[in-house]
Amino acid sequence: MKTLRLQLRFLVPLIATLVCAALVAVPLMDQLTLRWFARDLNIRGQLVTNTLAESIIDAQNDGKSWRLQSMFERAARDERLIAIALCSADNMMLRQTAGVPKSLDCARAREIAEYTNPRLDLASGAVHVGVHSLEQGNPKADLLVLLHDLSFIDKRSQDTRRYLIAFIVGLGLTIALITVIVAQLSWRGWVRGMQGILRGEGLLLPLLPPPELQPFASEVRARLRDLEDEYRRGLELVSEWNPERLRSLLHTQLRGDQVIVVSNREPYIHERNVEGEVIAKQPASGLVTAVEPVMRACSGTWIAHGSGSADRDVVDSRDRVAVPPGANDYTLRRIWLTPEEEQGYYYGFANEGLWPLCHVAHVRPVFRESDWEAYRAINQRFADAVVAEARTEDPVVLVQDYHFALLPAMIRAKLPRATILTFWHIPWPNPESFGICPWRREILQGMLGSTILGFHTRFHCKNFIETVDRYLEARIEHEHSTITFQDKETLVESYPISIEWPESPMATPVPECRRRVFEKLHLSPLTCLAVGVDRFDYTKGILERLNAVERLLEKRPEWIGRFVFVQVAAPTRSALEEYRSFQQRIHMVAARINERFGRGEYEPVRLLAHHHEHDEVNELFRAADICVVTSLHDGMNLVCKEFVAARDDERGVLVLSRFAGAARELPEALIVNPYHVEETADALYRAATMPAAEQRERMASLRMTVKENNVFRWAGRMLADAGRFRLRGRIAARVQRHTATSDEDETSVHA
Ligand code: F6P
Repeated sequence: MKTLRLQLRFLVPLIATLVCAALVAVPLMDQLTLRWFARDLNIRGQLVTNTLAESIIDAQNDGKSWRLQSMFERAARDERLIAIALCSADNMMLRQTAGVPKSLDCARAREIAEYTNPRLDLASGAVHVGVHSLEQGNPKADLLVLLHDLSFIDKRSQDTRRYLIAFIVGLGLTIALITVIVAQLSWRGWVRGMQGILRGEGLLLPLLPPPELQPFASEVRARLRDLEDEYRRGLELVSEWNPERLRSLLHTQLRGDQVIVVSNREPYIHERNVEGEVIAKQPASGLVTAVEPVMRACSGTWIAHGSGSADRDVVDSRDRVAVPPGANDYTLRRIWLTPEEEQGYYYGFANEGLWPLCHVAHVRPVFRESDWEAYRAINQRFADAVVAEARTEDPVVLVQDYHFALLPAMIRAKLPRATILTFWHIPWPNPESFGICPWRREILQGMLGSTILGFHTRFHCKNFIETVDRYLEARIEHEHSTITFQDKETLVESYPISIEWPESPMATPVPECRRRVFEKLHLSPLTCLAVGVDRFDYTKGILERLNAVERLLEKRPEWIGRFVFVQVAAPTRSALEEYRSFQQRIHMVAARINERFGRGEYEPVRLLAHHHEHDEVNELFRAADICVVTSLHDGMNLVCKEFVAARDDERGVLVLSRFAGAARELPEALIVNPYHVEETADALYRAATMPAAEQRERMASLRMTVKENNVFRWAGRMLADAGRFRLRGRIAARVQRHTATSDEDETSVHA
């Protein structure tokens, strides 16, 4: 329709121009042809006169003028010449044939003959009037008047007009036709060309964008991708992500395929209490916080290291136990490790090697050959467990974290059709930093067994891609963020992890939480309470935040006695010397600060270095005025998101390290550089004195962000991408089967 309108816009002026041309050209042509014919008739007349002149003069000289009449009659029998008259020089009619009209005398004939178009219209038709002297140059000589029939000229001129009009119409039609065809072809070609360019088709396709357009095409493509992403994100935000939506995604896009999660840390640890009863505990782990609600929604199997003292007591003969206790939503399959294996794989390679390597928190990574061997062997053990648990050839396997860099390729070797989603929960360093790992190539190759490789931020994805570029022979498509290694494609994408947003309002009101916490910690009611909740890890910036608290009390002594900082530090990896000495140092620094600023019962720093259950942490968050997260480097950090989720009263201030992935999502927090002690101390002061209205404004916005970007969205986005990959894989397999069948048919025909 659009093309037709475009063509009409072109054709209408063309037709108008041609009609105008015809209107001007046809009369002009008429005049021209008449003038040409008049000239011809004059020449012809002169010829006739020259032929007759001698005979006429002789007849007159001989006195035999009567003979002239018959001579004239004979001559006028000509097809064109219809009448002849002889006039004297003084306009006397001397002789005339019958065809000379009565109205035409000699004077009139001479007058008409002077016209450019010497034409006389008679009842019988138009005639040409020619007057020729019998003796040229003699003014007294007689004149011969010749009347030629003009009807043939009219006929010819009509014919010419007809031909001319037919020619103009024909020309018009031809031009119009050519125009339409050219317009159609070039429009279609252009549109198809543009479509091809925008689809990102390669150079070998027939419709090539000219080289000068290629940068422009890439720009347009990139912009379109951005817009598409924005649109997709916009759409995603319209509807909330929750367990139901995740379940329905699993059933629609993944057709209810089996989901298997693999992580080192198990979601529930069974231990015996002092009474000897078995109790289930949830470990302090961001990974567990995020993945557990997803598994409750998806069911399936979670494979993890059984590290609890009573873990073996509760599993069945195949090392399985249904969890969560009482709800039995999914299966936990436990893998057993000897202390030596745990030492090499978990403490050694994962936590003395990869952990400091990726966090770049100024602790040297340690790489031992024996740790690497253990790491490889345990990865293989988990891969075998995945294969044993898989009910189909193509399960969806969610591999979690840096403990399993080799696992994706090992699973792929045994289950080539599996969809493997690997999520790296910690940062990915730049290629130079990663390059110090002696097994860098093996690690990258192992990870590239994944279908999708997820990081928290785009920045970590970029670092990973650059690392592969530096150390492996792989094809990288930056535009699509994919890496093809040994014919296998991996999508490298950012999926910011999150928490489960509380479905119902918190049971205990904030004032009650505050009352309980203050009572437990013996705090005066006027205390400004700041809290930090972390694993007792050197990457969390606990030392830096203690320094900031100390600096605050130095700079603002009016807060001594009124400002208390409570640090919950969940014991972790204490078997490692690095951790033990760090933890001791923190204890010492806390004691020093308390000694310096403590008064009677008042202690500015409370270090609670033991395991806290989720409800206790939640109560603390609700009681606090400030939450301090000062990680030196963190993939995401979920503590800050949990604090935000706990504050349904829209009060409390979040102080957040700019080196935590979460800082990109939560700009309404007070963002600090934890290495800058003055800045962090000032942020603590600002938080302590922030008016309630500003707190509410910031907290409301933070809550909106965390609620919308909850953990179901994190899992949903990954699983939706996995669904797309599986669909693409199925289509490719079908095409391959079809091609193989056609090849076979062809071979048998040739045979
Ligand atoms: O930060 C990445 C992460 O896997 C967290 O999810 C988890 O809290 C921690 O590392 C691992 O802790 P652990 O060694 O105690 O399992």
